[in-house]
Amino acid sequence: MIKKIAVTGAAGFIGSNLCEGLLERGYQVAGVDNLSMGSLKNLEDCQKAKSFEFIKEDVRNADAINTICADADVIVHLAAYKIPRYGKATDTLLINNEGTKNILEAAKSRQTKVVLASTSDVYGKNPNLPFSEESDLVIGPSTVSRWSYAVSKLFDEHLAFAYQDAYGIPVSVMRFFGGYGPHQNLTWWGGPQSVFIGAILRGQPMEIHGDGSQTRSFTYVSDHVDGIIRIVENERANGEIFNLGSTHEITILDLANLLHKLIRGDSEPLLKFTPYASFTGKPYEDVMRRVPDISKAQNLLGFNWKVSLEEGLTKTIAWQRAEEKL
Ligand SMILES: NC(=O)c1ccc[n+]([C@@H]2O[C@H](COP(=O)([O-])OP(=O)(O)OC[C@H]3O[C@@H](n4cnc5c(N)ncnc54)[C@H](O)[C@@H]3O)[C@@H](O)[C@H]2O)c1
Repeated sequence: MIKKIAVTGAAGFIGSNLCEGLLERGYQVAGVDNLSMGSLKNLEDCQKAKSFEFIKEDVRNADAINTICADADVIVHLAAYKIPRYGKATDTLLINNEGTKNILEAAKSRQTKVVLASTSDVYGKNPNLPFSEESDLVIGPSTVSRWSYAVSKLFDEHLAFAYQDAYGIPVSVMRFFGGYGPHQNLTWWGGPQSVFIGAILRGQPMEIHGDGSQTRSFTYVSDHVDGIIRIVENERANGEIFNLGSTHEITILDLANLLHKLIRGDSEPLLKFTPYASFTGKPYEDVMRRVPDISKAQNLLGFNWKVSLEEGLTKTIAWQRAEEKL
């Protein structure tokens, strides 16, 4: 029976929402984060619960991670460094791989189930949509540093399954598609939706990278949390990879227009088109379309995304307005 769950990256966007969801279901939760990108403010509600403990720690500290995870029945490993839009590809590669290795080592002696966060970015430039878990992973050249994120997560996925084969640890991999909602990071780290909402509320232009025809499948965070909890609780998830996301595909330009409509009504949105090279200073390759096939999570776990984009964005706008006092 699962009693205690360790969550790394607990002070981040998905982590803090997940901790709230796990506490609501009656679990004891140990949240770990080094606060490099997350914030304690995200955990204000969790901190009120007696069954929640926050530990400020770096997942690269193997001894500390081993101690923290010693009495956990499941470890959900979310701590990671994401796409290196602003450099720091070394952080992306090293934090993600050292952290995951330390989590798997901590799980080894007690055969603790590890639920690992991966990303839809691993499908890369594969033109065949929707992406199923069996689809090819088409990564661009090593000289384009944005791919280091997908490569780091792919290494983590392989490492997890290698530990499962070698030591019998149950592992599950989650490939998230475009999460948004309360506690999202308000910079590009959190994705275009948070930056666009901030720009509209301030009366500034929304910065569209490229021509805005690239598509994403944005997923409200409660749907991600629901999927994670199903994977944590269901033994049929062990040894499996799951796409977790919404199947509603939208271009970035249409997202900008929709957000403008939701916040300002019918006036014309202010847009500023920015070529990729001007903000990266280097060659950049965007993924032009991204849509998941979620039939595996539907069939094995009974997962489905429930929150429509309009409903989720409306809640997110209300949260961001209060957060930024705009
Ligand atoms: N949000 C999404 O839509 C999305 C999409 C694909 C994949 N993911 C993956 O899901 C996970 C959670 O993403 P998120 O959006 O909540 O990101 P986030 O940046 O909001 O949260 C990650 C957390 O990890 C913490 N962290 C980073 N390095 C650490 C370290 N060395 N030690 C301890 N803590 C550390 C950060 O402080 C942060 O709070 C990540 O693994 C990410 O790669 C998220």
